[in-house]
Amino acid sequence: MSQKTPDLHSAYALDSPEDHKQLYAEWAGDYDETFAAREDYQLHIQTARAFVAAGGQGPVLDVGAGTGLCGAVLAGLGVGPIDATDISAEMLDQAMRKDIYRDAIVADLNQGIPVPQGSYSGIVSSGTFTHGHLGPEALTALLRVARPGAQFALSINAQHYEKLGFADALHKLAQGQIQNLTLSEVRIYGDLAAGPNRDDTALITMFERT
Ligand SMILES: C[S@@+](CC[C@H](N)C(=O)[O-])C[C@H]1O[C@@H](n2cnc3c(N)ncnc32)[C@H](O)[C@@H]1O
Repeated sequence: MSQKTPDLHSAYALDSPEDHKQLYAEWAGDYDETFAAREDYQLHIQTARAFVAAGGQGPVLDVGAGTGLCGAVLAGLGVGPIDATDISAEMLDQAMRKDIYRDAIVADLNQGIPVPQGSYSGIVSSGTFTHGHLGPEALTALLRVARPGAQFALSINAQHYEKLGFADALHKLAQGQIQNLTLSEVRIYGDLAAGPNRDDTALITMFERT
């Protein structure tokens, strides 16, 4: 067990898949209260709304679904069915308690997702492409499970986007694997946030698989 209470600072400093499993196992039970509510987290709402506004439809995969915050917004907007995938079984246990997901798939995105190719018409992700978490190499696994025409709505922390070379990776994918790429910058937290990251932004990255 780690010595510290999990928080955004410790999450941003994660390094290995084992670190993720440990931190999120400890955080799962009160993530919604100690992180999302306290920090006035908004990114899951922005991501789900962008997906629906673009005409996104199920079946959807919620990537790095965590406790299911993004899926809950999607379900409220009438989207389904939704599957959740995450490296943390404990986070997925919390997600399944929300009673909105069809299935929960424990997987390390860097190793691939154990479902047949072309399983989904939509792929969403909020808060998972961020410091200490997933880089652009994980996009390969997402494209494999998306069917042709599938709508993507991925939030990518704006600083992480620059640092990890997402622009280059997306530019290469736009040579034939994705189309209609758009980016819009949004605040991750709302006006009630007080922590040092209160003004951080993310890029809602929208595209379709060709
Ligand atoms: C900050 S949480 C975001 C959860 C949720 N989407 C939200 O918006 O609240 C990041 C999630 O990414 C998951 N994650 C981190 N690395 C991963 C990996 N390699 N494969 C799959 N999931 C991963 C973590 O377990 C965690 O649940």
